[in-house]
Amino acid sequence: MHIIAIANQKGGCGKTTTAINLAAELGRQRQRVLLIDMDPQAHASLGLGIKAHCQQGLYEVFNHELSLAQTILPQVIEGVDLVAATVTLAAVEPLLGDQPGRERQLLEHLEPLKDHYDQILIDCPPSLGLLSINALRCATRILTPLDAGFFSLEGVHQLRALVGLLEEKYALHLPMEILLTQFDGHTRLAQTLLEQVRQQFPQLLHRVRIRPTVRAREAVYFGKPLCQYAPQSTAASDYRRLAATMLADAQHRPSVAPRAPTRSALENDSEDNSMSLSREKALRQMVVLTFNDIECSRLQLAGDFNDWVPDQNVETRKLNGRWQKVFTAEPGVYEYRLLVDGKWQADPTNPYEIPNDLGGINSLLQVPAQL
Ligand SMILES: Nc1ncnc2c1ncn2[C@@H]1O[C@H](COP(=O)(O)OP(=O)(O)OP(=O)(O)O)[C@@H](O)[C@H]1O
Ligand SMILES: [Mg+2]
Repeated sequence: MHIIAIANQKGGCGKTTTAINLAAELGRQRQRVLLIDMDPQAHASLGLGIKAHCQQGLYEVFNHELSLAQTILPQVIEGVDLVAATVTLAAVEPLLGDQPGRERQLLEHLEPLKDHYDQILIDCPPSLGLLSINALRCATRILTPLDAGFFSLEGVHQLRALVGLLEEKYALHLPMEILLTQFDGHTRLAQTLLEQVRQQFPQLLHRVRIRPTVRAREAVYFGKPLCQYAPQSTAASDYRRLAATMLADAQHRPSVAPRAPTRSALENDSEDNSMSLSREKALRQMVVLTFNDIECSRLQLAGDFNDWVPDQNVETRKLNGRWQKVFTAEPGVYEYRLLVDGKWQADPTNPYEIPNDLGGINSLLQVPAQL
C-alpha cells in the first residue's frame, strides 16, 4: 500500500487537480484508492461532486469520536473512496496542537485501513501546518505540483527542508517528486522553469508533465474527473500516464505488486538487454524492442523518449528479417507509435495501449528502474 501526499504550500499550483485525477486514473486501473481531502477549502470533495461540509469528518476522527472508516464515502467514482472535507476540518489544527504525538495522528488512524487500499492519496492544504505535517508524516511518497505558469521554487525548498526534518526526526525515507503542472513546453517561461528545477532539484523532477487545458477548470465545476468529463483532453492523457508511471514505479517499491499496463523493455531475447549504462547517464537504461511480424521496407519509432521525432536517437537493426530498435531512456512509462512505411500506427505486437489526444492509440512501454 502506498500513501501519496500531494503537497506544496504554494496555493493554486494544481494539488487538488492532481489528487482528483490521479485518484480517478488509479481507480480506473483497478487499484483500490482512498482519497483524503485534508484541505478545509474542500476542493477535492467538491471536484468529485461531494458537498459534505456539514457532515462529520476528520475533526471527529482526531477527537476520537469516530473511526476513520466511519467517515469514508464509498465509490464516489470508479475504484475511489473519499474522506471528504467538512466544515470542522479548519478546527483540526488547534485541536491537534494540544495532543501528544500530534504529528502522527493520521498515521495511527490509517493503520486499520492499510489492507483495504492499494493507494491512499492525500490532498494537502496550501500551508505547512499540522494538517500537512500529518499527511507528510504518514506518506510513502510525496508529489509536489509546481505550476509552470507562475513559478517560484522557494516554496519547494521550504517543503524539501521540512521533509528533511521529518526524515531525520522519524528515521524515514520520504521520496519527493516535483510534478510540473499547466506546463506548456512551447513557452520560454516553461523551459526556464524546467531548467531551474533540473539544476536545483536534479533528482526530484517527475518525467510526466501536465499540460494546460481549459477542461481542467470545467471538470471541477461539473464535479467530475477529467477521465469522465474530457477523456480526450491533454491533461486527461497526462494524468493517465502519471498513474501508469506511478504504478510501474511501485513495482520497484517493496510493499505492493500493482498491475502496470505496459510492455516491458526487458521482454526481448537479445543479449543487448543486459542494459549497459554510460557513466554520465547512469540512470538511463538501454532498451531493445524487437518486432517479429511486421513486413515493411521502413520501420521508424517515435515516442516520449525521443520527443516524438521518428528514429531520433534510435538505432535500427535488422536481424533475420526481424526489426530491432535500440535506444536509451530513463526508467518510467513511455507512450510510443510506429511509422510503418510512412504510416503511423500503434505497435501491433504490444497489447498495452492508451488513447491519445488525437483520437488514436499509443502503445505503452515500461522501462524498469533497476535490473
Ligand atoms: N492542467 C491544468 N490546466 C488548466 N488549469 C488547471 C490545470 N491544473 C489545474 N488547473 C486550474 O488551476 C487552478 C488551481 O488548481 P488546484 O485547485 O488544483 O490547485 P491547488 O494547489 O489545489 O490550490 P490550493 O492551494 O488553493 O488548494 C484551478 O482553477 C484548476 O482548475
Ligand atoms: Mg487544493
